Amino acid sequence: MELKSRHLLGLKGMSKEEIELILETAVSFKEVLNRPVKKVPTLQGFTIVNLFFEPSTRTRISFELAQKRLSADTINFASSGSSTSKGETLKDTAQNIESMKIDMVVIRHASAGAPAFLSERLKSNIINAGDGQHEHPTQGLLDIFTLTEKFGDIKGLHVVILGDITHSRVARSNIYGLKALGADVAVCGPPTLIPRHLEELDIKVYHHLDEAIQNADALNVLRIQLERQTSGLFPSVREYHRTFGVTREKLAKSKKAITIMHPGPINRGVELDSDVADSEHSVILDQVLNGVAIRMAVLYLLSSKK
Ligand code: CP
Repeated sequence: MELKSRHLLGLKGMSKEEIELILETAVSFKEVLNRPVKKVPTLQGFTIVNLFFEPSTRTRISFELAQKRLSADTINFASSGSSTSKGETLKDTAQNIESMKIDMVVIRHASAGAPAFLSERLKSNIINAGDGQHEHPTQGLLDIFTLTEKFGDIKGLHVVILGDITHSRVARSNIYGLKALGADVAVCGPPTLIPRHLEELDIKVYHHLDEAIQNADALNVLRIQLERQTSGLFPSVREYHRTFGVTREKLAKSKKAITIMHPGPINRGVELDSDVADSEHSVILDQVLNGVAIRMAVLYLLSSKK
């Protein structure tokens, strides 16, 4: 069994078997992360560039750490301070860097489709580290990996994704991955932040948090993109917190102890209260650690596909 594509552009269309292969491979790499010497020679001789055209804390550090744990040589590119400010195009930037004998490119970009664009123009394996409002496949995979650690089988698991679904690449990758594995996926948020026709994809839609969490096993709380607050998609941050903010009081009405997830960065006191984010039901920091194992698995599996 191997991955069909030599790139990871998204989880849309990825089979259950491919996702399971990544998850199983990540289990072995997580074991490496728990050793006193957290390094294996798997990608010795490989050179990987991390092209980040958008800010990132978790994903950038996680990819870099995954590459170092696999003994690859790592180059970090940040658009600020680069020749992008002189007008160089994405294609020219990427092709110039690749000409220095690069094997893989990890890219985060504000434009949906930027990783696919590079995959048609470069020889390197391309990994999407988040492209606009399209997908964030390694985030989806690390979220699913964290759920498998907690619950075992994903099939039939009740997962609610809460917040700005319309603009969220994290939501999209989670939905594709979870559905492929047979999870029972629901979304919850204000009507202005939920795309139409999700029911046609067999996804339940809720506009009231107390209804959404009645049977939930896990609640994946998305960051409210405060930069969108000017576009009037919800009345105010205070109103959002009152209606959809996750608090201990609201969770107490659920039948089960719900596992709390968040991709980060958290707006504490907006979408998620601090005492919930830091509670015994939160797996947020597990998600971050699992991100390294998942990215090691993805890098390893793609490294054999030229
Ligand atoms: N979850 C996530 O993508 O976080 P960063 O933006 O910090 O990478």
